[in-house]
Amino acid sequence: MQSYSSAGLAKRPRVAEEPEGLSAKLKDLLVGQSEAIDTIIPFIQMHQAGLSPEGRPIGVILLLGPTGTGKTRTVEALAEVLHGNSKHLLRVDCGEFQMEHEVAKLVGAPPGYLGHRETQPMLTQAKLNSLTSETSDISLVLFDEIEKAAPSMTRLLLGILDKATLRLGDNTSVNFERTLIFLTSNLGAKAIQRTNTPDFGFEAMLPRPSIEDTRKVQSIGMGAVRRKFSPEFVNRIDSVITYKPLGRAACELILDQIFANFSELIRTRLGIRGFRLQCTPSGRDLLLENGTSVEFGARELKRTVQRNFIQPVSALVAQGQVPSGSTVILDAKAGEFNVLLRH
Ligand SMILES: Nc1ncnc2c1ncn2[C@@H]1O[C@H](COP(=O)(O)OP(=O)(O)O)[C@@H](O)[C@H]1O
Ligand SMILES: [Mg+2]
Repeated sequence: MQSYSSAGLAKRPRVAEEPEGLSAKLKDLLVGQSEAIDTIIPFIQMHQAGLSPEGRPIGVILLLGPTGTGKTRTVEALAEVLHGNSKHLLRVDCGEFQMEHEVAKLVGAPPGYLGHRETQPMLTQAKLNSLTSETSDISLVLFDEIEKAAPSMTRLLLGILDKATLRLGDNTSVNFERTLIFLTSNLGAKAIQRTNTPDFGFEAMLPRPSIEDTRKVQSIGMGAVRRKFSPEFVNRIDSVITYKPLGRAACELILDQIFANFSELIRTRLGIRGFRLQCTPSGRDLLLENGTSVEFGARELKRTVQRNFIQPVSALVAQGQVPSGSTVILDAKAGEFNVLLRH
């Protein structure tokens, strides 16, 4: 048997975070999409082991699937576990770059052109470097809704995906070798959704979609991506993840996360003036019914909690009606929310 050794050749890179921990932390933050986590982690490990191919981004991952199922949340959760802050990422909303001239916002205008001095490019080396942290040297970059990008933006993207470089208007270049790149699109999901008859509320999301549906979303999504992008572009995508519509259990867990965050906010902001939160089963049912849908997934859930619980509670706090140590309860009857106070 042959054994390979590189002893004395190179120092072994430090593994910042043991993978089990990383994956468990991600699973706490991202509900019901374990396939996404299992697909992403190996790219991080490959980088941490120093075995990522040279001259390429750490990984290029396409996220497909319906709105409000956690595609953007995935990258935010990664930012949280890698850098300790869910906002530590660069999100490029491709919907803002549908016109050819808007692409200058990304790379800056060439010298001598009108606006050369005013346009600070969005994708600079300094920006990418600022996205690393003491705990991880990976910069997370998200190109959201890539199907909306103008053709010249697609050409820029191709260079980034292919050679991990981007040439700016002033002729300097940006190195993307230490970035993990995410592309999102909901193309396939929309086509699938049209074939279902949309209802509202989480019940419409049941029963859980079959493996066939997931495959259908993936193949329709990839079909749309292939029509829109050149074969070179599609070949640069390392992995495709298809997000599943969220079922009742997943929506319940997301609701628990929202409540936990709200409780934490009360604890840190109000300190000893703090109070406890409770929600009755009928309160939960109505929140889930109003805050989740086939069309928007769990996207409206946080806003629903805000409107029907956080805002009324804030009004009570502002009027000095919530004594410290009391309990504020959200209840619902006949489709209406009620906020109750227990001393
Ligand atoms: N799988 C999920 N895990 C946790 N929260 C989720 C999940 N899916 C949706 N959410 C909630 O819905 C919001 C919108 O989700 P988002 O990731 O932006 O959806 P999209 O798939 O359209 O990018 C999130 O901020 C979060 O509150
Ligand atoms: Mg999104």
